[in-house]
Amino acid sequence: MPTLIIVGAQWGDEGKGKVVDHFAAHADMVARYQGGNNAGHTLVVDGERTVVHLIPAGVLHPGTTCVLGNGVVIDPRVLCEEIEGLQARGYLTDPTQLRIDERAHVILPVHCMLDQAREKSLGERAIGTTGRGIGPCYEDKAARRGVRMVDMLDPRYFRDSVHKILSERGPLLRLYGEEPPTIDAICDEYAVYADRLRPYVTDATIVVSEHIAAGKRILFEGAQAAMLDLDHGTYPFVTSSNTVAGVVGSGAGVAPKHVGRVLGIAKSYTTRVGAGPFPTELEDDVGAKLRHVGGEFGATTGRPRRCGWFDAVVVRQAARLSGLSGLAITKLDVLSGIDPLKIAIAYDWDGQRFDRVPASVPALTQSRPVYEELEGWSEDLRGVRRFEDLPATARTYISRIEQLTGTPVTLISVGAEREETILLRDPFLL
Ligand code: GDP
Ligand code: IMO
Ligand code: MG
Repeated sequence: MPTLIIVGAQWGDEGKGKVVDHFAAHADMVARYQGGNNAGHTLVVDGERTVVHLIPAGVLHPGTTCVLGNGVVIDPRVLCEEIEGLQARGYLTDPTQLRIDERAHVILPVHCMLDQAREKSLGERAIGTTGRGIGPCYEDKAARRGVRMVDMLDPRYFRDSVHKILSERGPLLRLYGEEPPTIDAICDEYAVYADRLRPYVTDATIVVSEHIAAGKRILFEGAQAAMLDLDHGTYPFVTSSNTVAGVVGSGAGVAPKHVGRVLGIAKSYTTRVGAGPFPTELEDDVGAKLRHVGGEFGATTGRPRRCGWFDAVVVRQAARLSGLSGLAITKLDVLSGIDPLKIAIAYDWDGQRFDRVPASVPALTQSRPVYEELEGWSEDLRGVRRFEDLPATARTYISRIEQLTGTPVTLISVGAEREETILLRDPFLL
């Protein structure tokens, strides 16, 4: 089965963009199926850095069709800017390279305003969202008053839909002390986006199923990660979509029989951006070193990422929830010079041992990681291309991750560049 789902196995920013770009060279299609421009996926090719928030990370390969599935929420202003930015650099010159599903929901300015106003009013209790309107847009989708791409292309229907949203959301925004934009302002602005995006909008589920029927290679690019999943993550400190691999079914219109292999991406340590429990967080010099050496600042908001040790409890849970057939371990180069290294193998909560992530926020917040220590290494790993050329201690570190998560490591990333990669097994063939 030539499909591969790529999902984050921690709290996001694991390096999904780099891994998708790496495999996209051998893929006919890359499709996103959930999330929106809360994602920031970084690709580095020959020293040139590209950050994509909506467009799939396969876009640098001209022969790879990029799909935004129905489960994605789209801010058309951001999408237009992203398309223009890529085109200015010689990418995405063929409009048929990008297909946008007509049923994908549209983010309106009121969604962003509401997201930011709520966060501000929560103060210390804020979730630390990206402020991109993701939550309010998914809320309107579930409330059956959302606007979809196909609706945006029909001016009269769009105006009626915006009216419905403004009548619900306007009074709420005013309670927060914000004045919503007028219906005319929104309709005028979005008419420009509609004209710009019209050539890309189609029933993308048909495009995807035709690729599947033809036996083409498809990568499904997840955004966010298991611990940010609306159901399975550290609720309420999560995003507003499901992020586990099963969501490809609803978010891209793909039947379960067509998907099999799932590659989970995990950093060789852990990071989290935004609030919420994080058992292995390091607020000491090691944490600061990881942030500095790993360049741990958000690709979307620029916020410093919280850093900590690798948490095998979290990744094991992600492996179970998404049925990971393989793991890609990224940023192994960042651990050089840290000795000893620690991996959380379980949690201790009030004398009880947990081998899984507890659902209760107080239990997870009070959980203390049970650590195992491993010997570090000092060599620079960025030039290594074969597993056997890694220092013995780095090989042991990877083997221990495999044992603790029950998942084979199929790829190791030792630098941000596309080529700085050690491929152990072809994940399409697992
Ligand atoms: P994503 O959201 O999962 O795609 O990840 P982000 O792009 O938000 O964050 C990952 C960051 O790590 C980016 O700046 C990447 O360029 C960088 N990166 C990815 N893999 C590696 C690696 O193996 N080593 C180093 N040093 N940086 C990496
Ligand atoms: P990628 O795809 C890391 C986090 C936010 C916040 C919570 C809710 O680049 O890995 P939201 O704006 O979604 O309502 O915010 O989720 N978050 C991410 N953290 N990487 C991401 O995406 C994220 N997308 C959302 O920081 O804690
Ligand atoms: Mg990111």
